[in-house]
Amino acid sequence: MNNNDFNDVVLGRNSIRRYDATVKISKEEMDTILTKATKAPSAVNLQPWRMVVVSSEEGKNRLRPFVGSNVLQNDTSSAMIVIFGDLKCYEYAEEIYNEAVASGKMPEEVKEKQLSFIVPMYQGMSTSKMKDTVNIDASLMAMQLMLIARSHGYDTNAIGGYKKEGLAEAFELDASRYLPVLIISIGKADEAGYESVRLSTDTVVKYV
Ligand SMILES: Cc1cc2nc3c(=O)[nH]c(=O)nc-3n(C[C@H](O)[C@H](O)[C@H](O)COP(=O)(O)O)c2cc1C
Repeated sequence: MNNNDFNDVVLGRNSIRRYDATVKISKEEMDTILTKATKAPSAVNLQPWRMVVVSSEEGKNRLRPFVGSNVLQNDTSSAMIVIFGDLKCYEYAEEIYNEAVASGKMPEEVKEKQLSFIVPMYQGMSTSKMKDTVNIDASLMAMQLMLIARSHGYDTNAIGGYKKEGLAEAFELDASRYLPVLIISIGKADEAGYESVRLSTDTVVKYV
């Protein structure tokens, strides 16, 4: 059931850790959710997020040793979406910018100009700067994913308390290329979740 009430989608979100395990999001709907989530912005539009959607029993079993105390989410969610950042995301730069030209969204000269500075810049980036960059981009996508999930009638939990070592390999990914960023559990809520509080804007905001 879709929810187009923006305030309810955003302000009604709580982390949900127990889901109705009988509800499975279809591959088709998951594709729609992820397509919307990946409309998120990213630095020079390089879209470095990569995801493994773990929904099968076999996949959940493979993930279990990594989830720490977050076993309930793994056991009851429709899926655990493991988000990685691609440290070689610049390899897709040509494809992205060619598509922008082909679809009439960018003039050829702009593409040439952009690519001539983006690709060398990314290739020359330190690993630490690249990790920061893909972490930011993939986290923005993760937040968008959590809200899109709500608009589809599902709930989520962002999970940072998991074991990163060996996670990429467990899903046949090159660990030197794919940086674990976050796991998002998604499914039909089977609890209300905890109410949580926020610091006041007086504390966290400074106007100058
Ligand atoms: C980066 C990040 C990591 C988190 N890791 C976990 C986690 O490992 N396990 C968990 O149960 N909740 C985790 N949370 C959920 C937070 O506890 C939750 O967002 C926070 O308490 C505020 O509650 P709310 O999401 O219900 O508004 C994480 C949230 C974020 C943003």
